Order: sequence, then C-alpha cells, then structure tokens
Amino acid sequence: MTTLSLEHITYKYKKADKNVLKEVSCQFSGGEMATVIGPSGSGKTTLLSILAGLDEPAEGSILKDGQDVLGMDRDLWRRQEVSVIFQSFQLFPLLTVLENVMFPLELNGTPKKEAAQKARENLALVGLAPEKYKRYPANLSGGEQQRVAIARSLSSGARILLADEPTGNLDGENTRNIISIFERLAHELNYCVIVVTHDPEIADISDAVWQMTDGMLEKMA
Ligand SMILES: Nc1ncnc2c1ncn2[C@@H]1O[C@H](COP(=O)(O)OP(=O)(O)O)[C@@H](O)[C@H]1O
Ligand SMILES: [Mg+2]
Repeated sequence: MTTLSLEHITYKYKKADKNVLKEVSCQFSGGEMATVIGPSGSGKTTLLSILAGLDEPAEGSILKDGQDVLGMDRDLWRRQEVSVIFQSFQLFPLLTVLENVMFPLELNGTPKKEAAQKARENLALVGLAPEKYKRYPANLSGGEQQRVAIARSLSSGARILLADEPTGNLDGENTRNIISIFERLAHELNYCVIVVTHDPEIADISDAVWQMTDGMLEKMA
C-alpha cells in the first residue's frame, strides 16, 4: 500500500524573500483520507503543488514507498502517480462528461473503446447517472461537476489524490456527498487521499489531520 513521506521540505517562491514551507515533514498513506487545515496564505496549496510535482522544493526529500520521488521523472510522476482535484473543478468545457473522463486514459494510450468502458466504470463509482454522460460540464450542477473531476482523476491511474478545497464551491449536501466519495476511495479502494479544507466537519471525520501555520505543518490527530 502506498506510503508518502515528506522530510524537511523547504520551499520559497522565486523573488519572494521568505520561505513559504519551513521544514515540513509529514506522512500519508493509502487507505487513509487525510486533511490539511490552516489559515489562508499559510502554504496549503503550495504543499499540494509540490506533492503534485508542479514545483520542486529547495530542500528536503519526498519518498513514495521508500523511493526518492524528486529524483524521478517529474512528468511521469505528474501524469501517473498523483492527480489533483480543484475547488473550481477544471473540467474541459468543450468535452462531454464521458470525454472528460476518457481523456487521461487516451493520453496514456488506452484504445478508445476500452477507455470509454473504463470511464463509465469510474463515473459509476462516483455515482453519476449514465444519462448525464453526454452532457457538457456547463450543464451539470457543481456537485455533479466535482464528481466528474474525481472520476477523471481515477482515469489517470494515480493512487494519490490531492484535493485543494474540493467542496469550497458546494453546499452542505454536496459537500457530504463528495467527502463520502473520498472516504470510500480511501477506505474501500486504498487510495491515498489528501484534502485541503477549511471545513472543520471534514477534518473531524478524516483519518489524520495536519495543521499548516505560516509554512509549518503539525499533526493534530
Ligand atoms: N506564485 C507565487 N509567487 C509568490 N508567492 C506566492 C505564489 N503563490 C503563493 N504565494 C504566497 O505563498 C504563501 C502561501 O500561499 P498558498 O500556498 O496559496 O496558501 P494557502 O493555500 O494556505 O492559502 C502566501 O503568502 C502566498 O501569497
Ligand atoms: Mg490555497
């Protein structure tokens, strides 16, 4: 099962005068939904972008199952090992629901028919009704769009799911639905799920809670 371990990660944006992440050390594992909480500007999104391979830390190391991640091919890491889910869903507006979810599969060379089949399975897993698969994202509710975004992440084959305030644009009921999908992916399918959130209720039900304060990360629960 996946384990992800960060050791003394320090990061500074170019031209900035201070470190945004200060010797961050933490562990995440498959089978768990972890949350990262903390005030705006404390460094949560920066932490996710480093985990996502979008940026490289100045110092420190990242290990996946004991293997050095920062020494790996970063494009491969971004495409196959991690997948990011955003507050604003970030679906492709000109592709249908099914095409959005097929996209990462086709990018990885899966033949079209097989990609469509697998995409349908992933959409079923997030509970989206088949009559909506031919719609465009603009014709879905926010909660439905976020389900599609999660299904698209599953299509990447990544076992590490990073979600940056995924329920920030959703009401209470949709928030609960999305979080229960993440819980199921972690607990039943062994995904490693890391959710950045402002919502104390989400933190309460997660398996581990990390608090970011001014670039320093501390385990709360
Ligand atoms: N591209 C950037 N260039 C310079 N500074 C940035 C950039 N992105 C974020 N920051 C700064 O880094 C700090 C942490 O930001 P961020 O990780 O987005 O925090 P959070 O997600 O917790 O709100 C903030 O002070 C922010 O202004
Ligand atoms: Mg943020």
